[in-house]
Amino acid sequence: MPQTLKLAGRASLLARCFPEIWADPVLKAPVRVIKSHKTLDEMPGPSALSFFSDLFCKKGLSRLHELQIEGKAKYGPMWKASFGPILTVHVADPSLIEQVLRQEGKHPIRSAISSWKDYRECRGHAYGLLTAEGEEWQKTRSLLGKHMLKPKEVESYTGTLNDVVSDLIRRLEHQRSFHDQHVVKNVADEFYKFGLEGISSVLFESRIGCLEPKVPQETENFISSINTMFIMTLLTMAMPKVLHRIFPKPWQKFCESWDYMFEFAKGHIDKRMAEVSEKISRGEKVEGKYLTYYLAQEKLSMKSIYGNVTELLLAGVDTISSTLSWSLYELSRHPEVQTALHKEIAAVMKGSAIPTAADVAQMPLLKAVVKEALRLYPVIPGNARVISDRDIQVGDYLIPKKTLITLCHYATSRDAKYFSNPNSFQPERWLRKDDAHHPYASIPFGFGKRSCIGRRIAELEVYLALSRILMHFEVKPEQEGHIVRPMTRTLLVPEKEINLQFLSR
Ligand code: HEM
Repeated sequence: MPQTLKLAGRASLLARCFPEIWADPVLKAPVRVIKSHKTLDEMPGPSALSFFSDLFCKKGLSRLHELQIEGKAKYGPMWKASFGPILTVHVADPSLIEQVLRQEGKHPIRSAISSWKDYRECRGHAYGLLTAEGEEWQKTRSLLGKHMLKPKEVESYTGTLNDVVSDLIRRLEHQRSFHDQHVVKNVADEFYKFGLEGISSVLFESRIGCLEPKVPQETENFISSINTMFIMTLLTMAMPKVLHRIFPKPWQKFCESWDYMFEFAKGHIDKRMAEVSEKISRGEKVEGKYLTYYLAQEKLSMKSIYGNVTELLLAGVDTISSTLSWSLYELSRHPEVQTALHKEIAAVMKGSAIPTAADVAQMPLLKAVVKEALRLYPVIPGNARVISDRDIQVGDYLIPKKTLITLCHYATSRDAKYFSNPNSFQPERWLRKDDAHHPYASIPFGFGKRSCIGRRIAELEVYLALSRILMHFEVKPEQEGHIVRPMTRTLLVPEKEINLQFLSR
């Protein structure tokens, strides 16, 4: 083959594979043209002062999710902003988010600058899976993954979780009995308790009484510590460290909340371990089907078990509560969807009282309802990544290594370009075969190696609870037309109480 032809063929192939290299029309040979990437200096974004005033003067901390939508409308899909002392690049388009996540490397980092890590350093606590990095993270992820990611392992928690759901139904009956119209006030509060009882049963295989008529004080304290910690997380991160000395309250409160959470977890772990030792000393056989037991079997240090269990307890409370609260809030406002879902559940259950993992697997509308609730109200409205070892290209920009990249999931999941009528609750959109969505437009459990390790447990828990609640009750708003918006408290939570009527079926 003549040399020129060979070159031309190779040139066109290269041109297709590498757009930055294309064939010179005269030479018919590849010429390397380095496209000039834009730098961070060229990236648009608010001035540090205007972002600061948005955050602190216009209640921006609780409106961070809305600032994503405003930012995208003003600056396009990528912009930079200074969150206190931290410069962060916002990415608010699914394909750009995909580009970031596909370059995250072997040991992805969520955020290198974190007050959660500072607290652990300060107190000498071990990191758990949420905060660990590098090889340490990889080791714990593999250990926990064996018990939290395999469908069969997760299914084995069905009985334990169903016992907790039975208590939830009793608790809802009890709470509604105080009201003539059978209203349960502030359902998120009830679901916090359910979330804590659920994750505790998975971690310790024992019950801690969160759903009893008289809730133990330490449970209330644990839940309020989580709330305070989440509020203080954003505040302490947005404040430059020098300000911590001038305004010490936020950091102090933040540390006190974590102290309580670590103590709570330690108390429960020590109690469970003591029961096991006692059994062994009596010569009884010890076996367990709970996560703390598995961690102990893997010879993880006690310090590391305390760190991990504290973080798992924390991860299982607000996430479950928000998902259940928003799902029921939307179902109460969309009776036609609720009726269709009730029909689906009844058809699968055929008179049986307690759904199993196999039953909920046959309920596509149930799954679509939860997916849609998480699209509209992603529990983590903005996630983050730091690529620490190299600069990466995202869209037209070259992002220097170690830059904090904020992934604007709230903005993408409410973008009309990817979801028609983006602000309305339409679970059917997930069931229509012709309605394909960009796979990165709504990713409520994150993506890849660092994605939510509790996803399977969370989904099972939410499906079991939601299906049983709807088998027992028809759920209506306390007041027609009463709108509850979301607010950011690190996580996305209801801005005010969601009060619902629970009518017997
Ligand atoms: C509907 C409920 C839940 C939602 C929407 C949710 C969402 C998420 C998201 C978005 C992440 C970050 C993923 C990433 O960075 O790519 C995450 C991480 C994590 N979640 Fe969940 N989560 C839920 C429930 C749970 C539960 C019940 C547990 C515990 C059993 C849990 C444990 C964790 C842990 C330990 C991580 C850190 C994983 C790692 O860094 O390797 N989550 N979750």
